[in-house]
Amino acid sequence: MQNAHSLEHLIPEAEAEFAACANVNDLENAKARYLGKSGALTEALKGLGKLSNEERPAAGAAINVVKQAVEAALKARRDAILMAEQNLQLASETLDVTLPARGQQAGGLHPVSLTLARIEKLFHSIGFDVAEGPEIESDFYNFTALNIPENHPARAMHDTFYVDTADGKLDHVLRTHTSPVQVHYMQNAMKDKSGPPLKIIAPGRVYRVDSDATHSPMFHQVEGLWVDEDVSFANLKGVVQDFLQRFFERDDLQVRFRPSFFPFTEPSAEMDMSWNGGWLEIGGCGMVHPEVFKHVGIDAEKYRGFAFGLGVERLTMLRYGVNDLRHFFNNDLRFLQQFGR
Ligand code: PHE
Repeated sequence: MQNAHSLEHLIPEAEAEFAACANVNDLENAKARYLGKSGALTEALKGLGKLSNEERPAAGAAINVVKQAVEAALKARRDAILMAEQNLQLASETLDVTLPARGQQAGGLHPVSLTLARIEKLFHSIGFDVAEGPEIESDFYNFTALNIPENHPARAMHDTFYVDTADGKLDHVLRTHTSPVQVHYMQNAMKDKSGPPLKIIAPGRVYRVDSDATHSPMFHQVEGLWVDEDVSFANLKGVVQDFLQRFFERDDLQVRFRPSFFPFTEPSAEMDMSWNGGWLEIGGCGMVHPEVFKHVGIDAEKYRGFAFGLGVERLTMLRYGVNDLRHFFNNDLRFLQQFGR
């Protein structure tokens, strides 16, 4: 058994060794060398039994002083290590709550969608239903039933996107206008005997081989069709003018018709509306051609109808003051974010 005083050197030794430990694991190993089963202090305490009754108390007390000092050093080091580890963790998991938030971008409707919704609402208020038709049409619906002859320029490859079908026949197209919806709707109304009278608009996408600042290969039209026993050209003008006045919120807005030609209407006209002291073309119109009625099985002696087609992008550009059609399809948020919901 060594002299108890000779154990005091263990204190600075232990302190140095503990200080060198970088983590709690190392510290446990260091602790074992002093306080473990065969650690220096444990061995010293075991040695007390060999001492005489007189020597034992003082020796025991001296060992305990050293033991307590080593335990205190151990605890201090352990606390320091845990504190450092915690600070490190806190630093790595820090949230800088002063950073500006990334934010949830609120979505909005596309300006063309806003226009379509507005068109539907205004026509709905005067009794028009909304009809839809396919964007891939057969030659019959897009052309033939609309009295468009075999050799009509609209059927030319440079105007129309033709769609390959499995048998290699080019008898389907991406519809070039919304007028084929007239045909579907009138056919169905005859089939289920729900009309005439019938009164619809048909908004939707149409396609033409065309692309510049004022033409896009895909664009939108809204078709109008009213069939009844005594529908007139005057009704057509009234409906379109009322719609445009309400659409643009301008009571003084005028509509004029210029004689024109469409195979599926007779007579036909181009529609212009007054705008900033001039006239702007906004679509075509006319009285439904008897040939079209014949294709859908409506009695042309009994019924008459008017039809019109308006360009939706055109209306949108005028309403919002957009100067290039291509803005609508570039998906640039700086443009799209300027429109409300
Ligand atoms: N479908 C024609 C076009 O796309 C427009 C139109 C519709 C004309 C209805 C008359 C009647 O140009």
